[in-house]
Amino acid sequence: MRIDKMLANLGYGSRKEVKQLLKSGAVKVDDVVVKDPKQHVDTNKQSVTLNGEVIEYKEFIYLMMNKPQGVLSATEDSAQETVIDLLELEDQVYEPFPVGRLDKDTEGLLLITNDGQLAHRLLSPKKHVPKTYFAVIDREVTDEDVKAFAEGVTLDDGYETKPGELKILKSGIRSDIELTITEGKFHQVKRMFEAVGKKVVYLKRISMGPLLLDETLELGEYRELMDDEIEMLRNYQVK
Ligand code: URA
Repeated sequence: MRIDKMLANLGYGSRKEVKQLLKSGAVKVDDVVVKDPKQHVDTNKQSVTLNGEVIEYKEFIYLMMNKPQGVLSATEDSAQETVIDLLELEDQVYEPFPVGRLDKDTEGLLLITNDGQLAHRLLSPKKHVPKTYFAVIDREVTDEDVKAFAEGVTLDDGYETKPGELKILKSGIRSDIELTITEGKFHQVKRMFEAVGKKVVYLKRISMGPLLLDETLELGEYRELMDDEIEMLRNYQVK
C-alpha cells in the first residue's frame, strides 16, 4: 500500500496533509526517512514510525460492544447517538459498522467491524446463524410457548418464523427466558412473544454464532476481539 494512503486511512490527515507530514521527514520506513508519498510499504513486514513512534496498521478491525439502551445500531444519524459515536476516534478511522441491528432499547452483544465479507456471511439469511437473547417477559411463559416456538409462530404480518429454541429460566408473573433464533426479522423476538400474547419488557443479546458477550464489558464499553474469536467467526459453519 502507498505510504500516503496508509497514513490517510489511519486518520493522520488528508492526502495533502499527509504529503506535508512526509515532506517534514517525520515518517520512517524500516528506519529510513521516506518523503515520497508514492512509496509502497508492506504493512505486514515493514515497520513504519512517525516521530519515532511505531504506527500499527491493520486492514480490519473487529470490536465487541455491550450495547446500552438508547443508542442506535447505525453508523450515523442526524439526531440520535449511534453505536459508532461511542467508539474512540482511533477506532472510528477504520470506518466500522454494526453487524446487524439491535433495537434502540435492546442491550448486549454487538459486533462492529469493517470486514464486509465476514459481516455478509454472518447476516446472510441462507446461513441461519443462531442468535441467543435473554429476555424478561411481562407474564408467565409456559411449556406451550416452548412448543409453539419450537414449531414456529405466525407474526403480525403473517410471516411464519423458523423454529426457535425457548428456555424458561424463571417462570412467574414475570418470566426470565433465553431464546435462540436463526433469523433476524424486524423486532423478531418482541413479535414472537406478541404472537403468543406476551410482551418483552427487557431484551439483551448474549451470543451470535460462536461469539459470546463478554460480561465483563459494562454497558457502552467495547473491546477488540481476540485472535481466537476472529478465527472462530471466520471458520464458523452452521450445522
Ligand atoms: N429481536 C427484537 O425484537 N429486537 C432486537 O433488538 C433483536 C431481536
